[in-house]
Amino acid sequence: MTSFKAFRIHSEDGAIIPRLENIHLDDLSDGDVLIRGSYSSINYKDALAATGTGKIQRRFPLVGGVDVAGTVVESTDDRFAAGDEVVVTGCGLSETHDGGFAQYVRVKGDWVNALPEGLDLRSAMALGTAGFTAGLAIHRMEHNAMSPDQGPVAVTGATGGVGSIAVDMLGGLGYAVTAITGKSEPAAGDWLRQLGAKEVWIRDEIDMGHRPLEKALWAGAIDNLGGDTLAWLTRTTGHYGCIASIGLAASPELKTTVMPFILRGVSVLGINSVFVPPDLRQQVWHRVATDLKPAHLQQLVTREVTLDELAECFQAYIDARVTGRTIVRLD
Ligand SMILES: NC(=O)c1ccc[n+]([C@@H]2O[C@H](COP(=O)([O-])OP(=O)(O)OC[C@H]3O[C@@H](n4cnc5c(N)ncnc54)[C@H](OP(=O)(O)O)[C@@H]3O)[C@@H](O)[C@H]2O)c1
Repeated sequence: MTSFKAFRIHSEDGAIIPRLENIHLDDLSDGDVLIRGSYSSINYKDALAATGTGKIQRRFPLVGGVDVAGTVVESTDDRFAAGDEVVVTGCGLSETHDGGFAQYVRVKGDWVNALPEGLDLRSAMALGTAGFTAGLAIHRMEHNAMSPDQGPVAVTGATGGVGSIAVDMLGGLGYAVTAITGKSEPAAGDWLRQLGAKEVWIRDEIDMGHRPLEKALWAGAIDNLGGDTLAWLTRTTGHYGCIASIGLAASPELKTTVMPFILRGVSVLGINSVFVPPDLRQQVWHRVATDLKPAHLQQLVTREVTLDELAECFQAYIDARVTGRTIVRLD
């Protein structure tokens, strides 16, 4: 085979240097399944990796991209055959293994999900890691007895990928969603209401207080920020409510007390979308393609870019200037 395009991240003299390059199949990490990539997507972690803002790659050079959807070209794993449409998210892509920002991706069979019925390759990447993670969080929260009749659910970082998909999914399930955003433009609020938010709060306008327990506001919360916002959520979640801790876009720190846990029975559920037991991974992909499938999937995709345009996309994620999801076209 001739060469193909890949967005590879190098470490040179201590600096992170991403480059679109022509590479060969022999350059790719080992695996059982070779996929011709059709689409990938941009997640916050991809921006951390490509800008060097976070230490994501454990080796260099490595193809970036934590997601890919495409068609199997060849497989030595008998669960997959040439022509199968598949999705891979997480599983160490772009951390220890060449990732999804390439026209060919080779992965281990255990990481591969058959494209769930109800999704095509593009819509699978409209969801991508962000949609899978929002689905995993809601799935775990429901297992902790959250239901729409118990009260409002807060979503922070609401205009981001995980946040906006979570707003849509929760709204579709009948939850009263309060979307909390750092963006004060009316357009952001209008967009979140169209997705299904009942209320939109501007983060900087919230009086977060400082007492160990504040007035109980939430039956549940999905947090993409960490830091002060997550601490405030612990203080304002009601009896036996639960908080899905997903992200650290603001800070990896959490300063709170045990009062919410021992006086209100609040639970913080850790969400890790990268390494998920295979049965749970399949269950969640099935749900995001069926009962959790966002009603506004097309509106959630705000940009579609090619591999050639990719390098210019990442800084906006670090600066919190992005709304919605970006699909990457690999052909
Ligand atoms: N645990 C997991 O497995 C997992 C999986 C996926 C993502 N994540 C994490 O979840 C977070 C969201 O990921 P994503 O892909 O949805 O990212 P994203 O599309 O970039 O969205 C992040 C959103 O958070 C807000 N934000 C960003 N930087 C901020 C800052 N410095 N201070 C306060 N708010 C900020 C912005 O929303 P507003 O302007 O609306 O506030 C932004 O749109 C990230 O931290 C990511 O690493 C974790």
